[in-house]
Amino acid sequence: MDFKVADLSLAAFGRKEIQLAEHEMPGLMAIRKEYAGSRPLSGAKITGSLHMTIQTAVLIETLVELGAEVRWASCNIFSTQDHAAAAVVVGPDGTPDDPKGVPVFAWKGETLEEYWWCTEQALTWPGGDGPNMILDDGGDATLLVHKGAEYEAAGAVPTPNEDDPEEWKVVLETLRRSIAETPGKWTATAKRIKGVTEETTTGVHRLYEMHKNGRLLFPAINVNDSVTKSKFDNKYGCRHSVIDGLNRATDVLIGGKVAVVCGYGDVGKGCAEALRGQGARVIVTEIDPICALQAAMDGYQVTTLEDVVETADIFITATGNFNIITAEHMARMKHQAIVGNIGHFDNEIDMAGLAKIPGIKRVNIKPQVDEWVFPDGHSIIVLAEGRLMNLGCATGHPSFVMSNSFTNQVIAQIELFTKTESYPVGVYRLPKHLDEKVARLHLDALGVKLTKLTKEQAEYIGVDIEGPYKPDHYRY
Ligand code: NAI
Repeated sequence: MDFKVADLSLAAFGRKEIQLAEHEMPGLMAIRKEYAGSRPLSGAKITGSLHMTIQTAVLIETLVELGAEVRWASCNIFSTQDHAAAAVVVGPDGTPDDPKGVPVFAWKGETLEEYWWCTEQALTWPGGDGPNMILDDGGDATLLVHKGAEYEAAGAVPTPNEDDPEEWKVVLETLRRSIAETPGKWTATAKRIKGVTEETTTGVHRLYEMHKNGRLLFPAINVNDSVTKSKFDNKYGCRHSVIDGLNRATDVLIGGKVAVVCGYGDVGKGCAEALRGQGARVIVTEIDPICALQAAMDGYQVTTLEDVVETADIFITATGNFNIITAEHMARMKHQAIVGNIGHFDNEIDMAGLAKIPGIKRVNIKPQVDEWVFPDGHSIIVLAEGRLMNLGCATGHPSFVMSNSFTNQVIAQIELFTKTESYPVGVYRLPKHLDEKVARLHLDALGVKLTKLTKEQAEYIGVDIEGPYKPDHYRY
């Protein structure tokens, strides 16, 4: 088996944590039981590009139990938990000397070149007969296949411009090399793929853009917008892990501090609530009047970053947009202000611009924590080099919330793989009855007792006794 992880001797520790996580992931375990006989993913060759954590290990092993063959990479250079990666490679029945699990290409602290090499490896199946499915988080695996096929059709990979972002240069170089090694590789891969299931807001944006421009090559299920994903993982998950990231990185007392949350979508709502819970005075920035009004009515001051950049102590970006905190903003911040991003990509904070300030000095405090010292002597603390700080500085979301997200993922994989002809190229969401099913699978573990509709009540509000209980446009 080919694989590349940090250290297989961490597998036993990883396995113990996976066993604890399984108990906290009732949705995934129920799906394993439900499909144990039919194994609907037999024949599926799934390339996964999603943070290689303990929770993801339970997802991967669920896909395998349902019959799939799997290869995996992380979707961020800092988010891999090395013990999880090792345990997945070794597998439940293997040993570090005789690994019997799943090929994983991921370790904590990859360079950008290594990151794209790992993504390419996860997409490169021995014998060249896979993948036929992608499970993506942020869309990097999907991007590599699409750009590769596009450049193969054009007959050349473009030469990067000098001012292109570093990462884009690495993507182009990865494609140039892979196409030289195996001409036509990406066109063949794109043809083989039945579909992709996408985990996050930012990846879903990319898919809708590609579809709008007529560039999407295979169907996609938008997992993010299942209610049991974005209204849970993005919100309650970040409510947990934003604080975890801040504490592990800095251990600064949050109570009494002024914290700015940029963006009051699902992630921003979770972050703001968590910071307020710790006693911070939270200020929100927004561009959308609806979200701004929500923040105001939830009791937060809503203003512009310019107004508070010199006085706040903690800044968290949660927009999925770019250039939210500029180098100029950071230069104006007070001494030892903390700057972190929890959105998917690192361009919410202008790290390249910060590094270019004449005379600026970067002092590494510990992995994923840097003090940037300005020429006048004052400094700021930047978390995870501007990459998502909850996974870079801590361990991301806990198992229970990820069980909701990943149960949606598995159901979406089954749906696209087994009913491919029902999904012409396009971007789809799972039907509401499946969303409700995911929620239902998580109620018992929390001791929730659901009220049952009477027949008369169901008729009165115009729904089936067994659901779905809400129309598609309902917003929760
Ligand atoms: P969302 O679309 O619900 O919220 C983003 C909000 O930012 C919107 O309300 C938008 O109006 C606002 N916004 C956009 N530009 C802005 C600007 N210039 N200034 C202030 N506000 C601005 O998206 P969601 O689901 O909250 O996701 C946000 C990001 O977090 C995405 O990149 C997503 O992929 C990522 N994400 C990260 C997770 C993690 O564990 N770190 C978990 C889930 C999502």
